[in-house]
Amino acid sequence: MTVDLAGIPLSHEVLVASGCAGTGPDLQPYTPLADFGAVVTRSITLAPRPGGPLPRLVESPSGLVNALGLPGPGVEEFALRELPDLCATGATVIVSVWGETPAEYAKVAQRLRQADGVAAVEVNLSHPSGAAPDPAAVVHQVRRNTAAGVPVLAKLGPEALLATARACLGAGADGLSLVNAIPAVPMTTTGPALGAVVGGLSGPAITPIALRAVWQARQAFPDVPIVGSGGILTGPDAARFLAAGATAVAVGTALLHDPSAGRRIMTELADLSATDPGAP
Ligand SMILES: Cc1cc2nc3c(=O)[nH]c(=O)nc-3n(C[C@H](O)[C@H](O)[C@H](O)COP(=O)(O)O)c2cc1C
Repeated sequence: MTVDLAGIPLSHEVLVASGCAGTGPDLQPYTPLADFGAVVTRSITLAPRPGGPLPRLVESPSGLVNALGLPGPGVEEFALRELPDLCATGATVIVSVWGETPAEYAKVAQRLRQADGVAAVEVNLSHPSGAAPDPAAVVHQVRRNTAAGVPVLAKLGPEALLATARACLGAGADGLSLVNAIPAVPMTTTGPALGAVVGGLSGPAITPIALRAVWQARQAFPDVPIVGSGGILTGPDAARFLAAGATAVAVGTALLHDPSAGRRIMTELADLSATDPGAP
């Protein structure tokens, strides 16, 4: 079950998707974080952020729409407290980063470069409610401010996928993370259901869209590491992403529904491989 993700050895193909493990240790009693191939943190920003207006989460048929607004302590506090706590669990940690400008992303990467325990950096270029700055410029800044042995993954949405992926890879990304939650506006009968109006749809509702992204990216970039995510609830779901060409998969919404889903998905995937050794 070991996998090489852009040069970093992971003990398992199943990762925790960005933003879906809280600060991390909350999930520990349900599935030890070290059992996952890696834990991707929520997107870390330069300054602390309080998060968006309530409500921030609503269910939707076969999915969840979130508009958390990237709440967090800012990179300094993250590097001093949350990151060491996460590393103390034995988990491999991939830090997700977000900024309003390429320069802001660069500063977050600079600070992370001084911290121990960052196995890879995932660049969130697809926050559902935000206008993304130029993805290639962002990747260029993050790559040049990240140590050579630490891979940089570009996390994209499904829109303009191949052109954006090509630009990011050209700017120095070592791999792709596909896909983020997809921009969505859930409504009640009287108006917007989310405080921020626009959120990101995740869960099984987006699985075929995510599989399309992984499949097409794999055809276009045969040698590029790809982390697939989008509605993985079971081992067979994870196997479908691997069959589409994902190098590893990330589980998000399933953990919010059932925090022990990680352990179950890993067991189901192992059982599938044991039944059919040719299975991905
Ligand atoms: C509550 C919540 C918070 C999320 N926060 C982030 C985030 O901070 N950064 C990011 O790149 N993706 C974030 N995502 C997107 C997930 O990492 C994942 O790519 C997406 O939800 C699709 O996977 P899923 O259907 O298994 O959740 C978040 C998703 C959810 C549901």
